[in-house]
Amino acid sequence: EEAQKLAAFEARVGEGEFVEAKDWMPEHYRKTLVRQISQHAHSEIVGMLPEGNWVTRAPTLKRKAILMAKIQDEGGHGLYLYSAAETLGTSRDQMLEALHSGKAKYSSIFNYPTLNWADIGVIGWLVDGAAIMNQVPLCRCSYAPYARAMIRICREESFHQRQGYESLLVMMQKGTPEQQALVQDAVNRWWWPSLMMFGPHDKDSPNSEQSMRWGIKRISNDDLRQKFVDATIPQAEVLGVTVPDPDLKWNAEREHYDFGAIDWDEFWRVVGGDGPCNRERLATRVKAWDEGAWVREAALAHAKKQATKAQA
Ligand code: 3HC
Repeated sequence: EEAQKLAAFEARVGEGEFVEAKDWMPEHYRKTLVRQISQHAHSEIVGMLPEGNWVTRAPTLKRKAILMAKIQDEGGHGLYLYSAAETLGTSRDQMLEALHSGKAKYSSIFNYPTLNWADIGVIGWLVDGAAIMNQVPLCRCSYAPYARAMIRICREESFHQRQGYESLLVMMQKGTPEQQALVQDAVNRWWWPSLMMFGPHDKDSPNSEQSMRWGIKRISNDDLRQKFVDATIPQAEVLGVTVPDPDLKWNAEREHYDFGAIDWDEFWRVVGGDGPCNRERLATRVKAWDEGAWVREAALAHAKKQATKAQA
């Protein structure tokens, strides 16, 4: 009975069909989606912190307004994705408890410090650029609520990437030599961590085989990383910056860029909680959660009063 259901399910997603919340699904499919969508949501929420540092330090009112809009978008993406995960039967409290206790992951990229204003432009260009690469295929994820959430998120990510790149163009084309050096230094610090956003090599990725078979992952970690490098190097050339990889070179045969080895010790150290800012990021999240408890209690009390009034 169960085996028949699984076979029918695999045939359905194998033909590119979509799964809705009320459809039958294998427990492992549900579990791996809760894992991925909740960690994606955590990434969006924690991702607000490195940029939040620079709202009060933005160089102009225009840049401040753009940065605030971007950070608000990220918060919205997080809430969108928590809602998508809730359709699978998990709760907001369970997901947030997993984040605050250190059990759940979020993208390693947000554990690096934002040292100056150039970092904000480089995050938009490289981090949101990598996020778009990884999120566009998710618009065709076999789990329909997740795919639908991704359509709006990808549109907003494109604005994030464009605004970051444009602010770097201004610094490179109209900035002082010191400002140009700030941009190059930021690229040197963010390039490799951005490549790590795509996850381990396919051969070292425990979830990929199952996720690709079930139509959750449409393009592999390594293929997406390659697409990102191929698309980004020409943008770096227009900007007038280089990436910190002496092994980078165009391979006319492959029609792709060859690039150097990623430091997987750094990757697993940061994913494991021992990156430059992991403790600070988590402490900030837990503090916000604790300090916000009275707001949640008041909202619940108000909702209860409303419900009682409605029944009276
Ligand atoms: N940081 C932290 N953990 C990572 C990671 C990273 N950069 N890359 C991989 N991992 C984790 C995986 O979560 C998995 O651990 P788990 O089983 O405990 O969850 C383990 O490393 C092995 O990796 P796999 O490749 O086997 O795992 P996946 O098949 O889940 O692939 C992924 C990893 C490509 C990140 C995939 O989960 C995914 O596509 N997630 C949705 C997109 C997402 O979360 N992107 C984060 C970008 S940040 C963002 O979107 C904010 C934007 O506004 C800037």
